[in-house]
Amino acid sequence: MSSADTHYKLPTGYKPVLDDAESASRDEIISLQTKRMAWSLAHAYGNVAHYRRAFDAKGVHPSDFRRLSDLAKFPFTVKADLRDNYPFNMFAVPRERLVRVHASSGTTGKPIVVGYTQTDIDTWSDVMARSIRAAGGRTGMIMHNAYGYGLFTGGLGAHYGAERLGCTVVPVSGGMTERQVQLINDFKPDIITVTPSYMLAILDEFKRQGLDSRKSSLKFGIFGAEPWTNAMRAEIEQAFDMDATDIYGLSEVIGPGVAQECVETKDGLHVWEDHFYPEVVDPETGAVLPDGEKGELVFTSLTKQAFPIIRYRTRDLTRLLPGTARPGMRRMEKVTGRSDDMIILRGVNVFPTQIEEALLATDWCGGHFIIELTREGRMDEMTVLAEARPESWDGSGLAVQAGKVSAFIKNTIGISAQIRAVAPETLERSLGKAKRVVDKRPKT
Ligand code: DLL
Repeated sequence: MSSADTHYKLPTGYKPVLDDAESASRDEIISLQTKRMAWSLAHAYGNVAHYRRAFDAKGVHPSDFRRLSDLAKFPFTVKADLRDNYPFNMFAVPRERLVRVHASSGTTGKPIVVGYTQTDIDTWSDVMARSIRAAGGRTGMIMHNAYGYGLFTGGLGAHYGAERLGCTVVPVSGGMTERQVQLINDFKPDIITVTPSYMLAILDEFKRQGLDSRKSSLKFGIFGAEPWTNAMRAEIEQAFDMDATDIYGLSEVIGPGVAQECVETKDGLHVWEDHFYPEVVDPETGAVLPDGEKGELVFTSLTKQAFPIIRYRTRDLTRLLPGTARPGMRRMEKVTGRSDDMIILRGVNVFPTQIEEALLATDWCGGHFIIELTREGRMDEMTVLAEARPESWDGSGLAVQAGKVSAFIKNTIGISAQIRAVAPETLERSLGKAKRVVDKRPKT
């Protein structure tokens, strides 16, 4: 069954609601982007010392930009640039004009700090409202928002978008899973916004309380902030009898709402190209790749005031495709991994999402898993701890099934991984983004 066939609760005759930019033709979008890009490059160069230095070092000036293909002459921005300008040196407006800052946690060292003027918050609310609408949400619906509130952009980003659309927001944030289920039962939300891995934890809690998740009020799920597969989509849609779509974004570009899958097609995420200009580049050489080719996603903001971002290397791997449900804007294929998450096991590249897909092709594992990497002598070993569904757990009887997954992975991905079925409720649950890989190899 292809994902496009799985419209669980979408009413027959569902009609998308589009704003002006979503209805624009490709030519209209390109002309808008060209105008806005010229402004954004000049704004960054004129107001941020880092961009002035980087442009000068490359011998380019904003006046060299005439058409979108000229963007390739401008320098990339990488995470280290943002870290080096911690906390406030990347801002293009005086600090007093910022109405909010967010920060990405960053696993090591200093976080990345981003900031917004009131106009930026309005833009963000607009693209987020558009995303919720594309996912099936409508004015008047109740939205249960389980993305984390705080420095992470997920909670407040989704919150403001839902208010902008005219929804009733339930600002639960992540955690207290028992309470999440109680509120879903009592408030009867139509929409849920949460990471896909935490949605599985909510599902476990439905089961623990003896409740039928398929009977919940939820119709639309907007899942993102981490890679997830179409196999996971099918798992969640069936479990909740709902329509699940993918939302993408990153703090450096604005937060959630950079790209969103349309519920009527579920065929990748439309990039909101009136505000964010995407490129896909060769991760090694930095050369811009033609649409359709897979590489590293790069974003330039077209309208942001406080924190303009020029050619930001996201490290997310995907490709650009023509628009479908919104023909004026291109789609990006589901991001199945970032270059940082790629595991190289004895010379073979593997992403955690490939393991997720293999596990969900079985009926005994519901999607909770952890990949452990160890080193025996000179050889790297991968062990996947895969949690069994409560209904399939019978002690040791799953060893044979686990062996089958191992053989499947060997045949399809080409790596030897040991799969260990573990009892239900043994793996730690994430409240937000799941941590899939535990690397126990000695640091060299
Ligand atoms: O994760 C923003 C967000 C919040 C997006 C809620 C969607 C929903 P950061 O914490 O800055 O921002 O992390 C950004 O998360 O570069 C991707 O690697 C990953 N990511 C975000 N959305 C997706 C997605 C938020 N739909 C980083 N699929 C990005 C795959 C995603 N990866």
